[in-house]
Amino acid sequence: MKIQGNTILITGGATGIGLALAESFMEKGNKVIVCARTEEHLVHAKERLPGLQTRKCDLSKDSERRDLHDWAISNFPETNVLINNAGIQRVIDFRKGLSDLDRHREVDGEDEIEINFRTYVQLAAAFVPAFIKQKDAAIVNVSSGLGFIPLTIMPIYCATKAAIHSFSVSLRHQLKDTSIKVFEIIPPTVDTELDKGARASRGQQDRGIPPDLVAKEALPRMEKDEYEIAIGRAENIRAASGIDFDRIFNNMNRT
Ligand SMILES: NC(=O)c1ccc[n+]([C@@H]2O[C@H](COP(=O)([O-])OP(=O)(O)OC[C@H]3O[C@@H](n4cnc5c(N)ncnc54)[C@H](OP(=O)(O)O)[C@@H]3O)[C@@H](O)[C@H]2O)c1
Repeated sequence: MKIQGNTILITGGATGIGLALAESFMEKGNKVIVCARTEEHLVHAKERLPGLQTRKCDLSKDSERRDLHDWAISNFPETNVLINNAGIQRVIDFRKGLSDLDRHREVDGEDEIEINFRTYVQLAAAFVPAFIKQKDAAIVNVSSGLGFIPLTIMPIYCATKAAIHSFSVSLRHQLKDTSIKVFEIIPPTVDTELDKGARASRGQQDRGIPPDLVAKEALPRMEKDEYEIAIGRAENIRAASGIDFDRIFNNMNRT
């Protein structure tokens, strides 16, 4: 894909990997719009990157996902790249039955399936009709090495990331004769606030690579139309999980 002159919407782009991608794309001469739930994060992001466009929204809500799409298309009709990046990560113990699951969903208002997966699917579907009319467009889904081999203390997170991988493969195949390219960025452990301190509380020393490194590696690989961009240790995990995938996939999808 071309990595200059785009108008790019990055979900969850006010912190972490999303903000690093925003910064790198702005340095290359792209217009970047980010959305997040937390006003304070949006304000800080704008202080760091003054040209950034921001929008407050809660992607766990269907109505706010629809509003985000409508707002972006009416204010920035030239939008041609969607980066589905917003995500949450929770440790869930199924030995506790529904109580641990409900604690996150009902008490904290955090539903990993809704935020990590349904949002990606819904925004992709919403933006495709406008993107198809653009000369060049892209949908970029941020998954994780944990989508290929799960860390079982966070079973839903890993399942949503595996789902994003599968969804990206199908979406890329469905859109192969259009102007829309579909990318998947597969980060390893990255030093962000994604886990809300859970790594530290279980004594995990390795905080991972800085988010800037993800952006630094991803952009040149996107420019070369490398559709699955596994970074650092995520590449080892992905390679270990996939033997003879293409032959089997092509046999299944011959029509
Ligand atoms: N960090 C890692 O080790 C790692 C590894 C592999 C993949 N990833 C993936 O990379 C992506 C970015 O994560 P990150 O590590 O950069 O963590 P992060 O800094 O916490 O970024 C996640 C972003 O998602 C936003 N978000 C969460 N729920 C939202 C909602 N309901 N509505 C709108 N925005 C919401 C957050 O905004 P608010 O703070 O305002 O809620 C935050 O800006 C995620 O998809 C994650 O799964 C991360």
